[in-house]
Amino acid sequence: MSSYKSIILAAGNGTRMNSAVPKVLHKICGREMLNMVLDASNSASMESSVTVVPSNHSEFESVVGKRTQFAVQEIPKGTGHAILQAKHLADDVDNIIVLSGDVPLIQGTTITHMTEIHDSSQAAVTLLTSTLIPTEGMGRVVRDKSNNIQGIVEEKEASSDELNIKEVNCGVYCFRAPWVWKALESLKPSGDGEFYLTDLVALASINGLPIASVETENCHETRGVNNRIQLSELESEVRRRILNKCMINGVTIIDPINTYIDQQVEIGQDTVIHPNSFIKSGTHIGTTCSIGPGTTLINSVVGSNCEITASIVEKSTLSDGVSVGPFSHIREGSLLTKDVYVGNYCEIKNSRIGSGTKCGHFSYIGDADVGDNANIGAGTITCNYDGENKHRTVIGNNTFIGSNTMLVAPVQIGDNSVTGAGSVVTKNIPTNSRAIGAPARIFQGGGRS
Ligand code: UD1
Ligand code: MG
Repeated sequence: MSSYKSIILAAGNGTRMNSAVPKVLHKICGREMLNMVLDASNSASMESSVTVVPSNHSEFESVVGKRTQFAVQEIPKGTGHAILQAKHLADDVDNIIVLSGDVPLIQGTTITHMTEIHDSSQAAVTLLTSTLIPTEGMGRVVRDKSNNIQGIVEEKEASSDELNIKEVNCGVYCFRAPWVWKALESLKPSGDGEFYLTDLVALASINGLPIASVETENCHETRGVNNRIQLSELESEVRRRILNKCMINGVTIIDPINTYIDQQVEIGQDTVIHPNSFIKSGTHIGTTCSIGPGTTLINSVVGSNCEITASIVEKSTLSDGVSVGPFSHIREGSLLTKDVYVGNYCEIKNSRIGSGTKCGHFSYIGDADVGDNANIGAGTITCNYDGENKHRTVIGNNTFIGSNTMLVAPVQIGDNSVTGAGSVVTKNIPTNSRAIGAPARIFQGGGRS
């Protein structure tokens, strides 16, 4: 097989998105379109890829990292001009495959199939076409009476007869190098001043070079995203696929229409997802959990046998057997270890909660280390912020924090100690002691053991 590199077009203005975010960095079920195209390119075993980006491309770097090389197109002068900007990074292979950053459902297998057809037909250009998707906004494939491809005509330049053509150009091509590099130099601007990559097809036809095409049967993989309506249509399709895959793998989804699971999520067998739940990218859920209704999990790890009802968990880890909610918020950097119980209206931030600890009602636990088997009474607050700095609270094992206790950090509560209801704790409490009042008075030996 001859050698291939992929070039991914991503430098267009994306005007029709009406967005400050570059079009190809918009997400479909939590993953940027450009990353999806790079996934396909990598799975087709391309030697490497070059992505054509606009001059201000720091956002691209933070999203795709080092997955691809960048070629800069200072001014977006059309798809033909864009490819030429990648020449210095891609002129060392026999062929290039061109992918569009806004055609995100393209599959690696289709790319591989195109390269096989391209090689076997010795074509100068091989196109991916479709007769199954809406033609609106797409270039039409013009064929002669013998069905040979003559060119691609863009919608805005098409005659009414051409507009009736159902076969569209999907924006995915194989080109033979060095022919393509020479041909690109000779491209003339179109009516709107842009250099159309698609004009190369007519050029190959005029020069009598072989042109091949692959028509895909998959009506979604070739759909492009030029506006937010198309973005939402592809989002629905990807969501449907994700949910189906979860269900096939043994996850119960009570109401797929009202369940939102991103790409890059893992869910274990016999977990049940109740309606109105949002499970965001990077989340891993174990087996036999009950999630929702109305739960949002963001980039978090949830063990097995957990129950999270009408609550939000973000950037946190929950071990096996943890129960949260309804109406609680577990914020960034929290670790709820085995069998922790968090009831309703609790906020936990940047804290470690020891196993078997209970925090049932109306509490704020922030910047705290809580031991095992502690009982945090209703309304307990860690006063972690003095107006300038955040301080930590340490609550020992087997402690009993009375309702409405204020723990003014930095402060430590020793193992087996107790605070009375409404105490305001400003000093460390030794082990096995009791603290009462505001500010709390401490009675050593008055603890739980
Ligand atoms: C393009 C094709 C059209 C095809 C459709 C498939 C051309 C002229 N037309 O139209 O035949 O049916 O894709 O989806 O190619 N880009 C750049 N630099 C530029 C212009 C665009 O990098 O100067 C990038 C865009 O970011 C985008 C891709 O090229 O990822 C396609 O550009 P877009 O403007 O969306 O072209 P379409 O109108 O969709
Ligand atoms: Mg497009």
